[in-house]
Order: sequence, then C-alpha cells, then structure tokens
Amino acid sequence: MQRCRRVTQPDENMKGREGKGGTPFSTDGFLWGVATAAYQVEGAVREDGRGPSIWDTFAHAPGKIANGENADRTCDQFHRWREDVALMKELGVGAYRFSLAWPRVMPDGKTLNPAGFDYYHRLIDALLESGIRPCPTLYHWDLPQALQDGGGWEARDTALRFGDYAAACYRALADRVSQWFTINEPQCVAYFGYETGDHAPGCRRPQDVFRVVHHLNLAHGLAVRALRAASADGRVGIALQQPLARAAGRGEDDLQPLEAKLDKQARIFLDPLYGRGYPDSLAARYPDRTIPVREGDLEVIASPCDFLGLNVYFRETVARDESGSDGFRTVQSDFPKTPVQWDIDPEAIEANARWVAEEYGSQSIYITENGCAGPDRPDADGRCRDTYRIAFLDQYWNSLRTAVDAGLPIHGYFLWSLIDNFEWNHGFGPRFGLVYCDFDTLERIPKDSFYHYQRHIAQSKGPG
Ligand code: FCB
Repeated sequence: MQRCRRVTQPDENMKGREGKGGTPFSTDGFLWGVATAAYQVEGAVREDGRGPSIWDTFAHAPGKIANGENADRTCDQFHRWREDVALMKELGVGAYRFSLAWPRVMPDGKTLNPAGFDYYHRLIDALLESGIRPCPTLYHWDLPQALQDGGGWEARDTALRFGDYAAACYRALADRVSQWFTINEPQCVAYFGYETGDHAPGCRRPQDVFRVVHHLNLAHGLAVRALRAASADGRVGIALQQPLARAAGRGEDDLQPLEAKLDKQARIFLDPLYGRGYPDSLAARYPDRTIPVREGDLEVIASPCDFLGLNVYFRETVARDESGSDGFRTVQSDFPKTPVQWDIDPEAIEANARWVAEEYGSQSIYITENGCAGPDRPDADGRCRDTYRIAFLDQYWNSLRTAVDAGLPIHGYFLWSLIDNFEWNHGFGPRFGLVYCDFDTLERIPKDSFYHYQRHIAQSKGPG
C-alpha cells in the first residue's frame, strides 16, 4: 500500500476549513466506533511477561522509523485504559476496535502466558460496564519475534500457531466478546513486510510474498474455524484494506493497471475467502512466485465469515507501468489532500462497499477504519482546533450515508483513531486521533473533532 509511504510533513493547506456538518443517520442499530491497535497504543512492552514482537525489533533497528522513534511507551493505554474508556463513554461510541498483542498472550508465539490476558480482562470489563462493545482484532501486525525467528509468515507453521493463539483468545474472552476481527490489512503485512521492507520484519523478498499471503489467508481461515468450535454466538470477519483504485487516465488502456492492482492487492485475498480460489491471472503475471496451497487449505480459507471489514481512506491512482511485473504504479492525483498528503476521496467509502457487495455478495460490511492525520497541536488556550479533520469527516460520513441509503449492507463505522498514536514507520509525526496525546506528559486533550463526532453520533441515533 503506497499510501503508508506517502505520508510527508504536514502542511497548512487544510487550515481554516470548517465542516458544515455531515447529515446525521437515523439508522437504528448502526454501530459507531473508534479503532486502535496494540503496538500503536499500548506501550508497556516488557510488562506482565510480554515477549518481543517484530515491531519492537524493527523500531529499535537504526533507520527504520522516522526520528528513530519506537512504541515502547506511545500513549500508554496499557496503564491509562480507565481514562481512555471514560473518553469513549463521553464520546458516545457503541464499539471499540482494538487489537490483542499476540506476544503479550504468548510471549514466544506458542506458550500461553495467562498474565498476558489480565490487561484485556480489565479493558473488556470496563468497556462492557460503559456499554461499549469490545471488538478485538487478533492480529494487527505485531508477530512474536520468536515466530519470526522460525520463519515468520513465510513459514506455514506460523499460520498453524495463529489458529492455536486464536483458540486461546476465544477461551479467555469469548464469554464477553461477541465480535472478532482476525487479521488487519494482510496486504500491508505481506507487501510492506516482505516486498518493500518498509514495515516489520523489513524483508525484501518479492519471490516469497505470495507464500506470505497464502499463510495469512490460511491463518484467517483457521481462526474462523477455531471460533466456530469455541463459541456458538461469536461473529467473526477480517479487516481488509480498501480494494479499489482509480485509473490515471480515461482510455481503455487505463483499465489494465486497475485490474492488475485488484488482482495483486484485493482478489488474492477476497477470492479465496469467498471460495473462488486464487485468480488465474497471478500465475501468468508472476511466474516466479508460487502459492503453496495444500489439500484442504482452500476449504479452510473459505470458512464462512459473518461480515467483512474494510479500512477505507482513499483510492490510490494507478497508471500502466510495464517496467516491473506488477504492470501498474501509483501516481500523484490532483485530488485535494489532507495535511499529510493523502487524497481526500469521500466517495471511496461508497465505491468500495458497492464493489465488494456486488462482486462477492457480501451481506454485512463494517468500515473498520477511516480518518485522517495532521500536525495537530493545542493552541495557547489549550483547545485543539483540527478543523481540517471535521471537514474531512463530514464528507466521508455523507458518502457513508449515501451508501447506507442506497441499501448497501454497511452496519458500522470505526473511526481511526481514538487517540494520537505511533504511526508505524512514520513514528509520532502524523496524528490521527480525536484525542490529542502529549507524548511527554501523556496528557489527553479531546480535539474539536472529538466533540464533532460526539454530536454526530448523538444525532444519528434512531428514535427510542
Ligand atoms: C491503517 C492501519 C492502522 C493505521 C492507519 C492510519 O493502514 O491499519 O494501523 O496505521 O492505517
């Protein structure tokens, strides 16, 4: 996903744009939430027996993260969960999508560390007491380092271990958790982790990347099966990155790179998930890459899910490029930009939801991430005026409403993110939170957008 690499220094081009107020929903039962991920918010990387993850290793290696930063402490939700749950209650969200840290629960990836669940017990109980649905993601990129040492996602064993880890999480938490996400954006895991090397574990082995994809798909399927065995009423799905891109031009020729990108970044996950196996076109385009499918794998991967999660920020613009095997490359668009130069593309929500609903017949979709980042900082009066975020959100919520009104089966929306956090290889520069975090004092200050979302949720509740 090119966009992760395109975050640049914030600029001023969105300052002063006031939001006009996204039209409220009146959809009963629509789930409004916020999202975070363990490595980005927890900190406490050595507490309660947590083992190292690939992100600890990567962040501490020289030159990998902007300004040499790491998430050893980040916004310290591990200790400040009470404050953060109180903020979510004040915000009025109905759900919190967070992730469980595999190395906390199984420090070596295999051996259960019961103390690793203590933190999640506390967090989940507090959420439930506040009327907020806990929606954990099992894997948001922090693989135990010990499993990386044994081959990481290139090794089939990691997928099998993931099935065991998922079962342990369900045993510990399924009595209070009813909605689960298996893996967050496997696209980033595979292509940033093993092709470009921008993310942990930082490998550049394109010839192995489909092997990684297959093991991620298999891991997802095993986790779905483990939930069916553990809980009669638990619901489960995956959180994928937005599948759609835009063509740089309008000619017939411009559709080809779009198709090539869809195959590599969307269909390679969605097709097997929906029981279609892998797209044939991959073998033709990438003859040197193998997908190590064994008997029974495709059935496991196609284990029926209850919903599909889509993280939607914008659609990349792609042009034809025959210099490499992909056949496409990402190019600059003339779309308006957020302060970190991501495209502002509100129709991305409706377009992506429509595409998966029509292509795959998805019956239930959650927008599992959406939001934007900027150089937010409180003014002298202590108030954080993130007007560009309010304008951004209003436009995206309108697209969401259009999609729901058009009958697309979108059942919830999680805003990324509750609070400023560690943005992977970009460190602490891009601030995505509704709540400002002072990373020195750990003070939390709700931004203007926090109150804007609060109003939006309150107005969007159906009568009664
Ligand atoms: C997504 C990631 C999430 C966060 C947002 C901005 O790709 O899933 O962790 O970094 O982007």
